[in-house]
Amino acid sequence: MTDIKQKCLRILLNNRRKIKDFQYTVPSHDSYPYQWLWDSCFHAITLTHFNIADAKKEILSLLSKQFDNGLIPHMIYWDKTRPTNFPIIKWGKEDTSSITQPPMIAYAVWTIYQKDQNKSFVKKVYPSLYHFYRYLLTERDPHENHLVGIMNPDESGEDNSPRFDLPLDLPPVQNLKENTKKRLKLVAQNVECKFDAPFCMRNFFWVKDVPFNAIMVTNLRLLAKLAEKLGSDEDAAYFTKEADAISFAMRRLMLGGGIFYSTYGEAYEKIKVKTWAIFTPLFAKILSQKEAEKLVSNHLLNKNEFWTKFPVPATSLDEPSFDPSGFWRGPTWIGVNWFIYKGLLNYGFSDIAKQIKKSSLELLQKSGFREYFDPFTGEGRGAHNFTWGCLVVDLDAP
Ligand code: GLC
Repeated sequence: MTDIKQKCLRILLNNRRKIKDFQYTVPSHDSYPYQWLWDSCFHAITLTHFNIADAKKEILSLLSKQFDNGLIPHMIYWDKTRPTNFPIIKWGKEDTSSITQPPMIAYAVWTIYQKDQNKSFVKKVYPSLYHFYRYLLTERDPHENHLVGIMNPDESGEDNSPRFDLPLDLPPVQNLKENTKKRLKLVAQNVECKFDAPFCMRNFFWVKDVPFNAIMVTNLRLLAKLAEKLGSDEDAAYFTKEADAISFAMRRLMLGGGIFYSTYGEAYEKIKVKTWAIFTPLFAKILSQKEAEKLVSNHLLNKNEFWTKFPVPATSLDEPSFDPSGFWRGPTWIGVNWFIYKGLLNYGFSDIAKQIKKSSLELLQKSGFREYFDPFTGEGRGAHNFTWGCLVVDLDAP
């Protein structure tokens, strides 16, 4: 682990960028040369294991581009002068995108607070967090059904996941080019509707995604704790109530046959595709112990679904869309393993969590800090010196 920890620190330092008063980390210098929302939360969480001040700077740069309506954009183009192969996407804005990503910010701030117990940083960032989560709770839930919607697959952080094939009208077997074309068309439609979330969702893409909502539940609970630390019992009660309402709505609208499925459209039609998303309710603690045991034994430990030589593949092996090298359609990602690890610990499955940690470390040792990995052979794919691998330093149960 010490060797991996040193490599990780080297990557975080090499991928660090400074501009004016801000500091941030690019996920990979060759493939992802900007700042991304949930990546920065992962960086902050990881950085708490090295240097708290750097973890705080990562969050401050991320919050600095918050929109007036509260949205925090999923990409910040701090420096467009460096040559890059990264595609130019028209978001209707110059220096940021106009969509968001899984709201891991409260989690990252809570992790920072856990390490140094310093309320002044919490006080500084709390108004931005309040504004962001309020935006998600209101603008993304126009019918007040207590599920938070996304208006583009990229808001899930899993660009080409097969969960979005049905809403995008794509077949299960496809290539990345076809998928990107559809998503870019959607961006153009989002520009047309001025990224007005209720309007864009109603007209073009209306998905309530399981991980986004599970992440929301966990983050709202931590935001409530942060509010409590600042002495705002009223805010704490509000965020707790909203977290309860989302958990309840997830059970009501997403659960079928022991599995939580993302939904689409106004009728909340279940998208019955098994991806790693089915394990995120463990992270949000919305399953009973019995339900969790069933989920883990029937699906996670099932060799025909998710228990490969190098678990956990992003998509179940028995899905027609499964592709071991297909970006979010099959490979193993360390970020996914981090969420599942934390979820398993919530239910006391520490032996399985340990196996996931061991296998994640093996992947990094065997193939380096790659973006994602073949779940059978462990071969690394995608970006190099990718920061998500550093999350292994946070798989820290004894
Ligand atoms: C890819 C991933 C997304 C991530 C981004 C930067 O688009 O799908 O989750 O935020 O790369 O790493």
